[in-house]
Amino acid sequence: MLDPFATSGVSPREFPPDFVWGAATAAYQIEGAVAEDGRTPSIWDTFAARPGAVRRGETGEVACDHYHRSTEDVALVRDLGVGAYRFSISWPRVLSGRDGALNARGAAFYDRLVDDLLAADVDPWVTLYHWDLPQHLENAGGWPARDTAERFADLAAAVGDLLGDRVGHFITLNEPWCSAFLGYGSGIHAPGVRDGAAAVAASHHLLLGHGLAVDALRATAPGARVGITLNLYPVTGVDEASADLARRIDGLQNRWFLDPVLLGTHPADVVADLGPLLPDGLVRDGDLDVTSRPLDFLGVNYYTRHVVRPSAYPGTNAVEFGHRDLPSAANGWEVDPDGLTEILVRVARDYPSLPLVVTENGSAWADRVAADGTVDDPDRLAYLATHLAACARAREQGADVAGYFAWSLLDNFEWAEGYDMRFGLVHVDFATQRRTVKTSGEWYARFVGAAREIL
Ligand code: NOJ
Repeated sequence: MLDPFATSGVSPREFPPDFVWGAATAAYQIEGAVAEDGRTPSIWDTFAARPGAVRRGETGEVACDHYHRSTEDVALVRDLGVGAYRFSISWPRVLSGRDGALNARGAAFYDRLVDDLLAADVDPWVTLYHWDLPQHLENAGGWPARDTAERFADLAAAVGDLLGDRVGHFITLNEPWCSAFLGYGSGIHAPGVRDGAAAVAASHHLLLGHGLAVDALRATAPGARVGITLNLYPVTGVDEASADLARRIDGLQNRWFLDPVLLGTHPADVVADLGPLLPDGLVRDGDLDVTSRPLDFLGVNYYTRHVVRPSAYPGTNAVEFGHRDLPSAANGWEVDPDGLTEILVRVARDYPSLPLVVTENGSAWADRVAADGTVDDPDRLAYLATHLAACARAREQGADVAGYFAWSLLDNFEWAEGYDMRFGLVHVDFATQRRTVKTSGEWYARFVGAAREIL
């Protein structure tokens, strides 16, 4: 029989029977219900309320209203036929207030969500932190304060106690680079701080919190597999003169996170680049033993490659992000599937101990609902197909790529970009909350179905 996927350039047969197929979301981006059942404010509630912080002043107040529609959304996941669903826990929903006590009503939401997923034959993959720090912890110093790492371990212990009997996979942090450098460096994400030293301190405390959370999960959920998700990019300088800049960006973006987590060291060149931004005393004896607790998998989020050149404008930031002759998605990100193969193969080579799971990959396009109610999104479909092919190539080249999660299940609140950047396999009409599976979602369901049938 002809392979129905032949024209897409990738075949389900290129993936092994135990490959994990999934779709992903994050709490603040989909849940809404920000003041319900004892949830307290997070830094994203505060940040989004600040004029000019998010495009068109949008917020996560309602988002996809998933808090009230999780039954319908679990049915969507089941109908996609994926075996796994990655979602995150809203910290200010689960632990209430300063005393960090469990908020039973908030906890009950995740308890039920996990049960519903299991009943639908879908494995829950739980991310503990996808950027929504409780505001009271930010008021106490946020991630630049060491104590926040300890508080994160409390969250891990509470979630391990709550869900560890049923959840097989936990991810401690999602993209700590963003939490540290967009949150406290450029200030384009919550809490909107612009202070290089605070960003570096935050990056260390995030990874310390990660290690402490691993310990807490091992104690409370001994049967579960535990990992972390990093956003990794190949970094290419446009010319010879950009080579050192590319090294520096690669250092801070990739190795500053990979090395402490997987090797228990800091890259010497990045330490030198940071200079006074990395003061004595920030990293204490024993910290790198904590950041490098053994893991069961590494989550890799991939969207595009960084193409860099030194800025031509004196007095401005030292780096410009350029483009090559490739198509760009609606948010300007270059579509570069080879970058995914490259980063997976490199991580497998330089940090050989762990299976890799692509915990996010996807693209934003200006989707339109046709008169007949359908949403045809050929660009997203092509992006998916070419990036799945890129995973298959990475596997051929020896990388142990064990799973793939499409970002995202639903169109959702794309942080500072608001609702305009649609990443979903499923379209959401935010006025009516109507969900419509896009052509790409249908294609992914068929692809995953075929891959899982070969089992
Ligand atoms: C990575 C983040 O984890 C996710 O929250 C975001 O929506 C996607 N990238 C797309 O920007």
